[in-house]
Amino acid sequence: MDRAALRMVCSPQFWRMAILWTLSLLHSYLLVFLRGRTAIPRRRRPRTGAGGEGRRPICVVTGATSGLGKAAAAALAREGYHVVLAGRCMQLLSEAVEKIQRQQSDAYLEAFQLDLSSYRSIKKFESSLKQWILETNSEPAIQLLVNNAGILAKSHRITEDGLDEMIQTNYIGPFILTNILVPLLKNSPVPSRVVNLTSFTHRCVFTYPVSGIDVSEGALRGMKLGQCSAGKSYHLASSYEYTKLCLLLFSYELHQQLHISSAVSVMAADPGAVETNIMRELPPCLSWFAFSVLRFLNLLQQTDSGVGAVLDAALAPAEASGEYFFGGKGRTIRSSRLSYDTEVAKKLWAESSALFKELQLRGRDLGTN
Ligand SMILES: NC(=O)c1ccc[n+]([C@@H]2O[C@H](COP(=O)([O-])OP(=O)(O)OC[C@H]3O[C@@H](n4cnc5c(N)ncnc54)[C@H](OP(=O)(O)O)[C@@H]3O)[C@@H](O)[C@H]2O)c1
Repeated sequence: MDRAALRMVCSPQFWRMAILWTLSLLHSYLLVFLRGRTAIPRRRRPRTGAGGEGRRPICVVTGATSGLGKAAAAALAREGYHVVLAGRCMQLLSEAVEKIQRQQSDAYLEAFQLDLSSYRSIKKFESSLKQWILETNSEPAIQLLVNNAGILAKSHRITEDGLDEMIQTNYIGPFILTNILVPLLKNSPVPSRVVNLTSFTHRCVFTYPVSGIDVSEGALRGMKLGQCSAGKSYHLASSYEYTKLCLLLFSYELHQQLHISSAVSVMAADPGAVETNIMRELPPCLSWFAFSVLRFLNLLQQTDSGVGAVLDAALAPAEASGEYFFGGKGRTIRSSRLSYDTEVAKKLWAESSALFKELQLRGRDLGTN
């Protein structure tokens, strides 16, 4: 074991991940068990999208170069979607497209660069996507957005927008992207959908009183993390949990806003524990150890089964909007009590919108918009 690994093992954040994350995963499976054999929402193949007969519905998958995003892109192409793979690195995107095409020669795929930790990149993605839709003669509409991209960062890094990288990638970026793409989702001639990839780790955010969670602009910028990193330790586990809870609060609030007034449904998907590259920033011996323990406890899935919850959420009937899909096999459970707090969700929405507006104004000054 090297020094970095040793330092991590000695940190409270490591033990938080080792103990609380395992307990929250077990808690989720216990809820599945207690729910028993309730009716499972059946998967439906997507209906023809914009542009009429013969045209495939369009879906966007973020973080499609690795793990669950790559598996979801392949599976959704098989279901008949024209899949837009969005990711940071063009080289990795081309490799992912080639790999899917080798397995499915009739897959409809497109690749676009998108870095969720950059407002400029999100705006560039929006215009490339719209341009491509226009050129392919489709109506300006998409049918599915899968907010999959996410990181487990080991240090407090500040993005070009001045935010903490993990918070921006896992929450603020998806919030902005979704709001930017909502008009395209609403334009769809068939019901459309947003699927947000959250995690059982959101259950580890405890506050007293229950609604005492800090969703102020400062917290969303990661300013508190900046203060703790000055004291050397970055709270990687609690920050990751926080971003996943924010994404979940956002999902339920978006469901409230869209599902009644439009044909856009919103689902949360939690795959459980899956062997992917999510722990790439941790010392390799620790991620190997974590995966070995989870495998021993029979709690670890491979990506082909782990992607089940994402497909369940993407293909469930629209009436399942606002549900939390967990662990595949069509299963839905309740998420944490805090995640259903509508007051916190509204405050989070207001603070996130203020940040979005600020980035828009700054972008206008720099000529990005
Ligand atoms: N694995 C699990 O056990 C588990 C459990 C619950 C939830 N999840 C969630 O599932 C999602 C997928 O994670 P994974 O397990 O498949 O991990 P992964 O293999 O590391 O994949 C993460 C993907 O996100 C992309 N990404 C990272 N930062 C990005 C950015 N700034 N802009 C655009 N794309 C970015 C990565 O792209 P690059 O290739 O460019 O890095 C990669 O394609 C995450 O949201 C994660 O939180 C995972």
